[in-house]
Amino acid sequence: MNTKPIVAGNWKMNKSGEEGVSFVGKIKNRILDKAEAKVIFCPPFTSLFSIVKTLNGTDFGVGAQNAHFEVEGAYTGEISVGMLKSTGVQYVILGHSERRHIFGETDVWINKKIHAVLNAELVPIFCIGETLDDRKSNQTTQVLENQINLGLQGMDSIDPVKMIIAYEPVWAIGTGETASSDQVARAHGYVQSILERMFGQIAHEVPILYGGSVNENNATELIQTDGVDGFLVGGASLKEESFCGIVEQVSKFYKR
Ligand code: 13P
Repeated sequence: MNTKPIVAGNWKMNKSGEEGVSFVGKIKNRILDKAEAKVIFCPPFTSLFSIVKTLNGTDFGVGAQNAHFEVEGAYTGEISVGMLKSTGVQYVILGHSERRHIFGETDVWINKKIHAVLNAELVPIFCIGETLDDRKSNQTTQVLENQINLGLQGMDSIDPVKMIIAYEPVWAIGTGETASSDQVARAHGYVQSILERMFGQIAHEVPILYGGSVNENNATELIQTDGVDGFLVGGASLKEESFCGIVEQVSKFYKR
């Protein structure tokens, strides 16, 4: 199992194919062999092939930002897990809050997608997180529990170490407002207790990432927070200085 901390960059709908290849090329030259972290790039679909090729032979990972659960068929605009696998990616982000809240993805769909990704032997990066309203009305733990129970339904017999969880409070995404260490530690502890109930002691091996306005100024404090095994980074993953700064701090300060 990979015990290194993880820094995954979710580029969302940013960077053309050319920009993406040039960007990962620069990062590769700068941190190759130096990063004590598993670095994963999650570009838009159109860049997957070329970025996998650019990173061939390195330890950097590449992930997609979504997938459809059906194998093939009349699903205009969708991309199957098999198609993603053929690009050479190893990871797929699923259940991101933007998919849930802007595109109306339900827990049932996310559950089907996680099944499809695991069946293809790719690693899902399963995102969960509460909205500001949920937090204000003391619903955080209930929301996290529901998202996990529904998202992982029918998976009691899988090896949970083959997935990654990302806790991303919706109110901290793209807002510049980071959850406090205390809030993050509590949420991660709670997520771990739910996973332990489902899978037993092995659940402690499942990496739980934090996401939501992570940048080079808060990465040191957040990576030392209990239960944090790395980050899923949005905005700061688009800039060389900030992304490399995060990777450097995670490499230095992570302690499991
Ligand atoms: P920001 O880092 O821009 O807040 O985005 C977080 C995120 O959504 C990563 O998936």
